Amino acid sequence: MTKPSVPNAEPLCVPCRLAAIGAVVAVLAGGFAYTAGWLTPARLTAPRFINTFEAVAGQPHPGYRRNHAKGLCVEGYFDSNGDGAVLSRATVFAAGRTPVTGRFAVPGGNPSAPDTSSPVRSMALLFQLQNGEQWRTGMNSTPVFAVHTPEQFYQQLLAAKPDTATGKPDPARLKAFYAANPETKPFLSWVKAHPPSSSLANGAYYSINAFLFTDRTGNTRAVRWAMVPETPYAPISDAQKAEKNFLEADLNNRLQSGPLRWHLILTVAQPGDPIDDATMQWPDDRQHIDAGTLVIDHTTSQEDGTCRDVNFDPTILPTGIRPSNDPLLAARSAAYALSYKRRTREEALHPAIHQTQTNGSRS
Ligand code: HEM
Repeated sequence: MTKPSVPNAEPLCVPCRLAAIGAVVAVLAGGFAYTAGWLTPARLTAPRFINTFEAVAGQPHPGYRRNHAKGLCVEGYFDSNGDGAVLSRATVFAAGRTPVTGRFAVPGGNPSAPDTSSPVRSMALLFQLQNGEQWRTGMNSTPVFAVHTPEQFYQQLLAAKPDTATGKPDPARLKAFYAANPETKPFLSWVKAHPPSSSLANGAYYSINAFLFTDRTGNTRAVRWAMVPETPYAPISDAQKAEKNFLEADLNNRLQSGPLRWHLILTVAQPGDPIDDATMQWPDDRQHIDAGTLVIDHTTSQEDGTCRDVNFDPTILPTGIRPSNDPLLAARSAAYALSYKRRTREEALHPAIHQTQTNGSRS
C-alpha cells in the first residue's frame, strides 16, 4: 500500500513565528481585558458592580463583604421529612439530617451600619450534603426583589449613594429612580405593608429568584422557596428602632433558651408564571410543600466564625436543582465571587483587620 502523500509544509520564518505568537497573546489579553470590562467601561461587569458597592459604602471596610457586610454566623442542621423529594432528586430532600452553616445579615457595605439602615434582612445557608455536594442559598426577608435586571440594580445602587453633605441618600434621586422603574412597585408596596420583624428569629426569608427542580423521573418544575419561622412574627418596636445594634444580642438571648426553627416551604410554579422576573410574585394558590425543618442552635462571630470564608453563591447547587434564566442569578454569582476574592485577599494580607474594625466600630 502506498502512503498518502503529505504536502511539504514550508517552515515559518522566525519573525513570522514571533508575529504569530504575538497575535495569540494579543487575542488572549484582549479576551481578559474584555471580560474585566477594561475595553468597554460602560459594560456592567463584576468589577464595576463591586467598585460601586465600595464607593457607596464610603470608607473602605477591608475583609468584609461588599454587600450585606454586617452580620453573624450561625450553625445548625436541616431535618428533611422526605416530602421535597417529589420535586427534586437532590439528596438533601431524602428524609434525614443535613448539617448547615449560615449567616444572618443586613444589606449595605458598612459592617457597622445601624440594624435599621435597611428594612431588609438576610439569611444565607450552606447545606453540606452527605454525598459531598453543597446547596448554597442567599435569601432576603422580602418575597420580591426591587428590580428585574442587574442594570437596574446598578442604577438603584447609584441612586441610593449617600450624599456627601448629609451622609444619607438623596430622597429626590431615589424617588426619581423608582418613578423611572415602575417594576419596583410590588417591592415598595410589600415593604410598606410589612414592617421588619422584632428579631432575626421571627422573620421569613425568601429565595426570591426561581430555580429548576428535577425529580427522579426527569420531570422539571420551577420552584421558589422560603424559610418560614416557627417563632411568631412581631413588628420591630419603637425602642428597637432607636437602637443601633440589637439583632445579634436578641438572637443570642433567644438561643440561650433553645434552638430556633424555620420550615422550608417549596412553592411550585404553574405554566405561565414568571420564572425570570424576581419583581413578580406567583399567585397564593400555587402548590406549597413543607420539606422539613431548619434548626439553628448557635452563633459565631462573622469575624472568625465558620461563615466568614464562605461565598453564598446562589448558583452552587446539588444535582436536582439548577438556576433558572433569571438574569440576576448570573450577575449575583459573578459579583459575589469578586467580593469574596477581594475580602479573603485582604484577610490573608492583613490578618488583624477584623480585630481593628470590630474594636473600632462596635461601641
Ligand atoms: C444583580 C443583583 C445582585 C448583586 C450584584 C448582589 C451583590 C451582592 C454582593 C457583592 C454580596 C456580598 C457577597 C460576598 O462577599 O460573599 C451580596 C450578598 C448577599 N446578597 Fe446579593 N446581590 C444581588 C441580588 C441579590 C438578590 C436578588 C438577593 C435575594 C435573594 C440577594 C441576597 C444576598 C444575600 C442574602 C447576601 C448575603 C450573603 C452572606 O450572608 O454572605 N442578592 N450581594
